[in-house]
Amino acid sequence: MGRRRVLLDVDTGVDDGLALMLAIRSPELEVLGITTVSGNVPVARSTANTLLVLEMLGASTIPVVAGAAAPLAREPFTAAEVHGSDGLGGVTQQYPAPSSRAGQGAAEFLLETIRRFPGELTLIATGPLTNVATAIQRDAEAMHRLRGVTVMGGAIRVPGNVGPTTEFNFAVDPEAAAIVLGAGLLLTLVPLDVTEQVILSRQDVDEAGDGGPLQGFIRGMTAATMAFHRDHEGFDGMFLHDPLAVGVIVDPSLVRGQAMAVAIECRGELTAGMAVADLRRRSRTAPTATVCVEVEAARFLHLFTQRVLR
Ligand code: RIB
Ligand code: CA
Repeated sequence: MGRRRVLLDVDTGVDDGLALMLAIRSPELEVLGITTVSGNVPVARSTANTLLVLEMLGASTIPVVAGAAAPLAREPFTAAEVHGSDGLGGVTQQYPAPSSRAGQGAAEFLLETIRRFPGELTLIATGPLTNVATAIQRDAEAMHRLRGVTVMGGAIRVPGNVGPTTEFNFAVDPEAAAIVLGAGLLLTLVPLDVTEQVILSRQDVDEAGDGGPLQGFIRGMTAATMAFHRDHEGFDGMFLHDPLAVGVIVDPSLVRGQAMAVAIECRGELTAGMAVADLRRRSRTAPTATVCVEVEAARFLHLFTQRVLR
């Protein structure tokens, strides 16, 4: 079986960084390119962080292209309290700035790459969907030549993480999420319902690996996020939101998917960015996504640990 060709759109952030490590260390995948977006941190930071992670992995030949600095129609907000002001738990100050450079124009890069490999590419999006929505607005027909789109975002039957009903990626850019969910793409949604079942503990990180340079980087990168969860969620660890979006492509048997009609609320005072799923038994609304509703958390954590922490 050939390797699965993927593109990643990220707002690197700590869990995005771990997702990049899993993608690059998974022999089933061939990462053709990475685009960056403003989200956890401003796009200049998420781009620099992505370049640094690739350098730590010896994967600097993978093209990185910077994208949107702000959502389609709103002021940006970040998650520096979770990811640190630099987006990687403050660890970037211990490393020289990456020598590789990023391109500009994420949406165009996505479209050009999809046109080169029609029907072959899977796009994995782990940040606000501004770049993906922009690409759809520019050339929806090209975007339909994607083999699939896997999105980390939303909260269906569980509370949100930035509001009672809203998850960060969709809350930052509701308009973009609405465009992507409404585009008729072959969409797999990886919501908080499953990602919050996968917790990487500080013990997992401390006990793993030979203590080599990458383990030190991961330990430094995750410490602040784990401290945040210790103080606010009561456990000394972190959710592997974005790595699970990669895991779903590496081994689809890790999750159970359910076809759902999901749309995004864009006008609510309290609910802008909410993923509204029509769960009525007699719903006739056409499905818009395959939503991951169950995950074999322990089996995914084992896969992640073996490939990233060893
Ligand atoms: O809600 C979690 C998501 O928001 C993750 O992708 C995290 O990196 C942030 O982007
Ligand atoms: Ca992210």
